[in-house]
Amino acid sequence: MADRKEKYYITTPIYYVNDVPHIGHSYTTIAADTVARYKRFKNEKVFFLTGTDEHGQKIQKAAKKAHITEKELADRVVQNFKNLWTKLDITNDFFVRTTDDYHIKCVQKSFESILKKGDIYKDEYEGWYCIPCESYYSELDVGKEHLCPDCGRKVDLVKEESYFFRLSNYQDRLLEFYESHPDFVIPNTRYNEIKSFVKSGLKDLSITRTSFDWGIKVPNDEKHVVYVWFDALLNYISAIGCNEKEDFNKIWPADVHFVGKDILRFHAVYWPAFLMALNLPLPKHIVAHGWWTVDGKKMSKSLGNVVNPNEIIEKYPKDAYRYFLLRNVPFGLDGDFSEKEMIARINSELANDLGNLLNRSLTMVDKYSSSVVSKPNIITDKSLSNMSSEIFEKIEKSMQIFRFDEALSYIFEFIRDANKYITVKEPWNLKKNAKNDELQEVLYNIVSSLKFIAGMLVAFMPDTAKEIWKQLGFENSIENYDLKFFTDFYSITTLKVQKGGVIFEKIDEKKKKKSAPKKDSKTEETKKSDKITIDEFFNVDLRAAKILEAEALEKSKKLLKLTIDIGEENPRTLVAGLKEHYSAEEMVGKTIIVVANLKPAKLMGIESNGMLLAAKDGKTVALLSPEKDVKPGSKIG
Ligand code: MSP
Repeated sequence: MADRKEKYYITTPIYYVNDVPHIGHSYTTIAADTVARYKRFKNEKVFFLTGTDEHGQKIQKAAKKAHITEKELADRVVQNFKNLWTKLDITNDFFVRTTDDYHIKCVQKSFESILKKGDIYKDEYEGWYCIPCESYYSELDVGKEHLCPDCGRKVDLVKEESYFFRLSNYQDRLLEFYESHPDFVIPNTRYNEIKSFVKSGLKDLSITRTSFDWGIKVPNDEKHVVYVWFDALLNYISAIGCNEKEDFNKIWPADVHFVGKDILRFHAVYWPAFLMALNLPLPKHIVAHGWWTVDGKKMSKSLGNVVNPNEIIEKYPKDAYRYFLLRNVPFGLDGDFSEKEMIARINSELANDLGNLLNRSLTMVDKYSSSVVSKPNIITDKSLSNMSSEIFEKIEKSMQIFRFDEALSYIFEFIRDANKYITVKEPWNLKKNAKNDELQEVLYNIVSSLKFIAGMLVAFMPDTAKEIWKQLGFENSIENYDLKFFTDFYSITTLKVQKGGVIFEKIDEKKKKKSAPKKDSKTEETKKSDKITIDEFFNVDLRAAKILEAEALEKSKKLLKLTIDIGEENPRTLVAGLKEHYSAEEMVGKTIIVVANLKPAKLMGIESNGMLLAAKDGKTVALLSPEKDVKPGSKIG
């Protein structure tokens, strides 16, 4: 069949709707967005997909806990994701939801077609099941303690009738495919892991459940719902027409599925096997990135250190956030998020190297040449032009293997070269000595460098690229220019620059850590009056929580141990000094207000995660409670 593919197809994983978006989700999405923008920059047609994974027991449990339906929960959380993507300038072409009709139909159709073929069959399954991981494990995996090998939680022994996918049939074909496509899984270390996993033997895969019902029903056997991973993976084809619509072959196969390392096996083993069973071509690359820790620690709700991208982009320019995530870690490896490091990069690379280059260049064009540069008849010094070609070639190579960090380091190498060029050429002396031709050439070279830099930054820092463009004085927006306009270094004929404000402010780390002033906030003023800013107040995460259990600690005069529901997957333990004021029994069932993001502390050997609020009037202590019934986890503020 002739290749009808027209579009470069990029996907992110579809995100579970039992959680709010965090840095990990934003990382994959920003990486995918960067590739989408880069390809468009190079005049390629792109289809960029993201979305949400809305079925499964995990979602059902979360909805029950929140006392709403699964769909209500999904609708709510989906909005959080969509809002964040808008704020981060994500340019997805479509947003797929697994509760959408076309998706449900596609899953049922695919299931039936594999069933008909004989690669799905019905049998009985017994195994150790971990609800949060939605996975079965063998006796060997869970050990004597019956703990999930992935997340460490208790697993349950479950026996159920199930449909199985004949994964074992695909072992040889998968291995052959890996051998002939050595860049199927990127990076190479992960490719080797996947190969040895498959070599060690594949068992058939249970792909339906009867123990809960929040899922896509198996056609003609409705007590079964389709396993959430079979359901979820099919999003990549359901969103583009499920092999039925005219456009499907213009987009499929995917060029790159971006995933985190934890979900690589699903994408690099199960997914290609499902596709083989459906007689569809396989994706070109599965790119697995590492995990983010925060200040050296694993990110977790109980530690209260989950990085919320919304909060970061309230504090810092969103392009700085995009830059930091992509620059700080070689894509594929684990990384550590620290505001301190982000501030250091903003100050030295964005404000200093890039910001100064723009600022000093345009100041000189204003001052020495009435804001205008024009292409000289003869260009004698082509050093920056030559460098730009070399740099572009290097960026291209890095982008082909998704090494965003490398690509950015080349762009900034060029920025430093341009700064050096100014220092060496000393345009101020050329002006003083009336060497006008030379001065005009130097200014033209500098402005051409900034044009090149803006183009190279388009995919990584779209706002910044646009701002540089505006200040350079181009009338049309940057998207309207062809790749050639950037790679042809001398493409500007004449330009009247429009110098504007500073593109990145330097950040005083001490001030930033305490509060999160926006550009116009009155930090100094508020400091004098000992008042705090609204941002400082919002650093405290106050939540409503319901007390599930309470126990007076025998060895302590003051302490009660409380188990509270704060709207998270698992209840939290909190130790409070209330024994002299409240009995354990009267505490149970109360809804209280808790500081949810306090660092854990050990009291009488028990780790306390949070602090409850109470008013104190002499000896009287009164717990604070919301005056109406609100759900555990409701935000106060
Ligand atoms: N719903 C599945 C994906 C189905 S795709 C057909 C899922 N969802 S998820 O919401 O739990 O995770 C989505 C992505 O976030 C995964 O790629 C995962 O690797 C990533 N991350 C979750 N925590 C992360 C970090 N701390 N750091 C980096 N990425 C992390 O899995």
